[in-house]
Amino acid sequence: IKAEESLQKNMPFPMGAALNVSLLKSNSSYRNLIIKEFNSFTAENAMKFASVHPAKDTYTWADADYLVDFALANGKRVHGHTLNWYQSLPDWVKNFQGTTADWENLLKTHIQTVVGHFKGKVASWDVVNEAVNEDGTLRSTIWLEKLGADYISRAFQYAHEADPNALLFYNDYGHEYSTTKRTAIINLVNDLKSKGIPIDGIGLQMHTNITQTDANLTAAITTAAATGLKVHISEIDISLNPANTPGATYTDALAEQQAAKYKTIVKAYNVIPKNQQFGITQWNVTDGDSWILSFYKRADWPLPFDAQYQRKAAYQGILDGVK
Ligand code: G3I
Repeated sequence: IKAEESLQKNMPFPMGAALNVSLLKSNSSYRNLIIKEFNSFTAENAMKFASVHPAKDTYTWADADYLVDFALANGKRVHGHTLNWYQSLPDWVKNFQGTTADWENLLKTHIQTVVGHFKGKVASWDVVNEAVNEDGTLRSTIWLEKLGADYISRAFQYAHEADPNALLFYNDYGHEYSTTKRTAIINLVNDLKSKGIPIDGIGLQMHTNITQTDANLTAAITTAAATGLKVHISEIDISLNPANTPGATYTDALAEQQAAKYKTIVKAYNVIPKNQQFGITQWNVTDGDSWILSFYKRADWPLPFDAQYQRKAAYQGILDGVK
């Protein structure tokens, strides 16, 4: 592929990346790459609860607004992440004392203020993120404890009231490695649909690695599509060093295996109905800024671009998936 070509021009569905606002502000190589290659952006952290709502009556929009304004000025779609999660909560929420009605009001006010702030600019949201455990039960979070299982339906209803045009997603990980978890998530979204809850899509995070089988990767996508909802591969990265092997290095052999896994995923995604293809979003931009390096404190090369902003074999693997 020629240098002037790009993922966004060559792929038949939106291609996105999760962005770090500090890099967006400070690094022109990063900016040039994302403007060229992608047509959809997600904030890696800037729209999370602790980022935008650090105190009860205080909202801090600067970083999220910066990302949204940058995106819209460059003609990009913005996908909102995330309205309800058990992580990235500010202390005031963790320490909040109140009745069930007070908690409902807290959830509703947060969701409606954030969705309202970005109305007309952010056209889709991860409404509820990671509510399901590996064993298929609901994760024991502050939201489940204070509001019961119904918090999930309420979150979707509150978001829909604030912006009836926004597409609303349930987002989670593990569909490819746990059939138990996958089944529970599919049952959850089907149950929401059958109750008339406004849900439009399912996000498969797809934080995976080269040891995952093609059959499992494909089944994750196919079963999500069978719900009839839109499917977003929302946070993809493919680790080359999941076991943190001492002295691991990036080799041509690993690069080719990674390219083949990206291709498998894209190929499976390309055959679901067109109107269900919300797009594929990678989590971070290059091997130099991936969350995996700092979170797991290991060497890894999970993305289609290297730390020098160059395309890897994985990039070609993505293109090959739609050939
Ligand atoms: O901004 C503070 C900084 O002021 C402080 O000095 C530093 C010390 O730890 O922390 C900084 O915040 C960190 C933040 O990232 C920004 O770098 C948080 O500790 C850290 O927990 C946070 O990690 C993020 C994580 O979600 C938790 O919110 C990762 O960057 C982000 O990639 C990760 O993304 C999640 C998705 O939202 C949901 N799915 C899984 C995915 C990967 O874990």
